Order: sequence, then C-alpha cells, then structure tokens
Amino acid sequence: MAAARPLALVTGASSGIGRAYAERLAADGHDLILVARRRDRLEEAAALLDRLGGAAEILAADLSEPAGIAAVEQRIAGEDRLDFLLNNAGFGNYGPFVETDMARADRQIDLHLKATMHLCRAALPGMVARGRGSIVNVASTLAFTAPVRMERPKRATYAASKAFINAFTQIVANEIEGSGVRVQSLCPGVVRTEFHDNLGGRPPQFPALDPGVVVDASLAGLALGEVLCVPQLADAGSLARVSEALTSVWNESRTDHVAPRYWSRPSG
Ligand SMILES: NC(=O)c1ccc[n+]([C@@H]2O[C@H](COP(=O)([O-])OP(=O)(O)OC[C@H]3O[C@@H](n4cnc5c(N)ncnc54)[C@H](OP(=O)(O)O)[C@@H]3O)[C@@H](O)[C@H]2O)c1
Repeated sequence: MAAARPLALVTGASSGIGRAYAERLAADGHDLILVARRRDRLEEAAALLDRLGGAAEILAADLSEPAGIAAVEQRIAGEDRLDFLLNNAGFGNYGPFVETDMARADRQIDLHLKATMHLCRAALPGMVARGRGSIVNVASTLAFTAPVRMERPKRATYAASKAFINAFTQIVANEIEGSGVRVQSLCPGVVRTEFHDNLGGRPPQFPALDPGVVVDASLAGLALGEVLCVPQLADAGSLARVSEALTSVWNESRTDHVAPRYWSRPSG
C-alpha cells in the first residue's frame, strides 16, 4: 500500500506568500488545507494545486475570530498526516500609535498572536509524538526595528506583534529541540503582494522580493536549522550577536541588588 501523502496547512493561502508557499508544498508532494476568508480565491488556488498533483481542501475562516481559530484547531486535532504548518495570515496596520483604530489593532493581535499560538499548540503534540514536521510562523524584518529610529512606517502594533512571533517561536524551538520537529520564524523585508494594496497610501519605499523567492529562502533556512530566517540578511552573524547581547542582559541582571545608576533618588 502506498504511504499516505503528507499534509500541510497554510493560513493566508488566498494570496501572496501563503499562496506561493502552498504551490511549492503541493509541488513537493503535500496535500493541502488552505485557510483564509475569501472562499472564491481559495477555490481558485485549490484548482491550481489539484493540477500540481496535491489534493487541496478549503477551510474558509476568519482567524481574527475565536470561532475561526477553533474551526482550524478542530480540523487538525488528531490529524496524523499533518507534516507542515504555515502560520502566515496577517495584515499591515501602519500609522501613528496615538491615532490607532483600536478595533483594527485588536483584530491584528488576535490574528498574528492568538491564531499563531493556538495553531502551534494544536499541531505540535502530534508532530512531536511522530518525531517529524515543520512549522513556519511568518514575522517580518520590522520585528527587529524597536530600537531603530526611522520615520516610516509608523508601526508600533504591527512590529510588536511580529516581535512576539519571533520570541514565541525561538522559545518553543528551544523547548522542543531534539524532537525532530523544526520551527522557524520567517522575517522577510518588503515582498510584492497585496499586503501593500491593503495598506492604502504610498507603495513601499524599500526594495522588494517576489513571494516565491521568500519561500525558497524559508525552505533553505529550515534545512539549515535556522530558527530565525531573514531572507535578505547576508550576515547571519548579526543575529548571533543579537542573541549574545540579549543573553548577556538576562545573565547580568540575575543578581540580588539594584545597579548603581539607580542608587540615588532624584529629589523633588
Ligand atoms: N508583503 C510584505 O512586504 C511582507 C513583509 C514581511 C512580512 N509579511 C507578512 O507576510 C504575511 C503574508 O502577507 P502577504 O504579504 O502575503 O500579504 P497578502 O497577499 O495580503 O496575504 C495576506 C493573507 O492573509 C489572509 N488573511 C488576512 N486576514 C485574515 C483573517 N482575519 N483570517 C484569515 N486569513 C486572513 C488573506 O486572506 P483573506 O483576505 O482571503 O482572508 C491573505 O491570504 C503576513 O503575516 C505579513 O505580515 C509581509
């Protein structure tokens, strides 16, 4: 009897990076579960994937809603064939923080943080038990820009949500090291997708990549064992230096006393 084909679940499969990743996984022998809100777009993608040889199932869901997240969790619970999870659904939300539309910011937190966290939690136990599988969570190079003084884009909620994805993925990777399961936080710079159309305003001011190239880099990064994959970053040593610096902050602040610069209380 032929071995069952591995299964991949892709969120945000109706366009951009998710659509390109789904096509690559189908061409590499996966069956697919395609998740996004626009059913017509998913049907169009599924028809193409069928022609590439992968059976594609559609799960139309709004992952910024608890019911949408629960529907996907239920679909993958106990799914023995699940071999790849791409948490990619997301949207931009730029502008000065003091003018933020908080309903939109809440939806972004629910989509970027909660959906990613819940689907990892649903997928990982089975993967760890089987000793194989890959999870890619899509972050952004903007995740690294908290200390960067740049005028545009104004990005507090977006960049912070992507920084969560980096931290979460790195810590989970440490926890499951040696299990045979690979996890990655994918941090592209600007990519040519509908993401920018949905922001309104000016098109991106930075050089852009095609989505297929980002998929290539992500898969190469998984093979290299990179937990943080930054496709446009030539010197991976930069990331190692960031890790060393953060480890120093943690190690040096594990003391029973307050640092001397805090010893004198300002008067008045
Ligand atoms: N493009 C860039 O320059 C860039 C750079 C760095 C990181 N990223 C990240 O890459 C990821 C993919 O973005 P993209 O560039 O490929 O943009 P995109 O073409 O606009 O694709 C976004 C995808 O997310 C889905 N989505 C949005 N809201 C959703 C919701 N509430 N529930 C379910 N699905 C939802 C969209 O589908 P529906 O509208 O059909 O729901 C679409 O399939 C995002 O996480 C983004 O933050 C993009």
